[in-house]
Amino acid sequence: MPVTDELMACFRERFGSEGDIRVYFAPGRVNLIGEHTDYNGGHVFPCALSMGNYGVARKRNDKTVRWFNMTYPENGVITADITKLAPEDNGLWYDYQLGVLWAFMQKGYEIPCGYDMVMISDMPAGAGLSASASIEELAAVIAKDLFSLDVTMSDCAVIGQYSENNFNGMNCGIMDQFASAMGKKNNAIFLDTDSLEYEYVQLNLKAERIVITNSNVKHQLAGSAYNERRSQCESALRDLKEVIDIKTLGDLSESEFDKNADAIKDPVNRKRAKHAVYENSRTIRAVHALRSGEIEAFGKLMNESHVSLRDDYEVSCPEVDILVEEAWKVEGVIGSRMTGGGFGGCTVSIVKNDHIDEFKDRISRVYREKTGLDAAFYIADAADGARRLL
Ligand code: GLA
Repeated sequence: MPVTDELMACFRERFGSEGDIRVYFAPGRVNLIGEHTDYNGGHVFPCALSMGNYGVARKRNDKTVRWFNMTYPENGVITADITKLAPEDNGLWYDYQLGVLWAFMQKGYEIPCGYDMVMISDMPAGAGLSASASIEELAAVIAKDLFSLDVTMSDCAVIGQYSENNFNGMNCGIMDQFASAMGKKNNAIFLDTDSLEYEYVQLNLKAERIVITNSNVKHQLAGSAYNERRSQCESALRDLKEVIDIKTLGDLSESEFDKNADAIKDPVNRKRAKHAVYENSRTIRAVHALRSGEIEAFGKLMNESHVSLRDDYEVSCPEVDILVEEAWKVEGVIGSRMTGGGFGGCTVSIVKNDHIDEFKDRISRVYREKTGLDAAFYIADAADGARRLL
């Protein structure tokens, strides 16, 4: 049975079949290059995935929401009064939804009533593919459509980020929500996170596919270390501002950075800022390479991105390093790197079509030998962003 039929059947059983019942979807994302640049005023290059979260919803006549998630049936039906929302940082699926309703209201939008909803996910959670942003954008597109809110999908991305920062206590940048809200089939999004100007870039991959490898590990420090990286970059920026007139680290070229790097007092902060500046430049160059059909150059920049994330930004981990370093050895691998926030999660690789089986076999075997863990693989198809389906 298609997933939307399953959802509809579950909705009818739990909440009844009368009235205007609508179906929505919001995707996860994979970032091809431009990691930890989105809170440094740099560029990112993600695409939305065909995996994500589906929801079926119908308005209510009161201020209550009733939500059931088929992926987490053990949570039962979550009920909340939308006039009494307050920040929660439990990182649970319904906190991301509640956060978005709260954020809309904080920004002055009227949420006139609650709704009943059943949802389901077909993507791995906690794997660095932005399951949480997908839930936020599902909540945003449901609210936009059910309540006819006068917002664009780009506004929905900003609302999602605002809610994650202020309701869920995670100081993330805009990349994940933007990719989930604004994705376009067969395209990646070249986004300037400072101005929010963006361009779609067609992924004309014919002889290659984008392969995501899930390490199936998530290290505890993910949230706290992320916020720590962010403040280290802010501190480096403050030092640089004493000697050069810039607004963000994304304003600097590599050579301007090298010339002024000594102004950053703390050597660790200097490494963090170096990554942010060089990664931004790599992202711009990578998009240029892709547009010129130079896929090998794109792959090389992906590899450099990983080294910088591993050594200067220090957000990789041994398991993910094994996946990437092993991928580099496989014939037909154009490029491979960690993707997302880090400390576990997934890698993204561009692999020639006729080497994908060998890639999976070898990585699975070596990863199991070295870690005792099983890796999982997904072929990424760049897909459309959050939307109403029916
Ligand atoms: C997480 C955050 C994003 C971004 C990435 C790293 O996914 O949510 O905003 O900072 O990490 O690039």
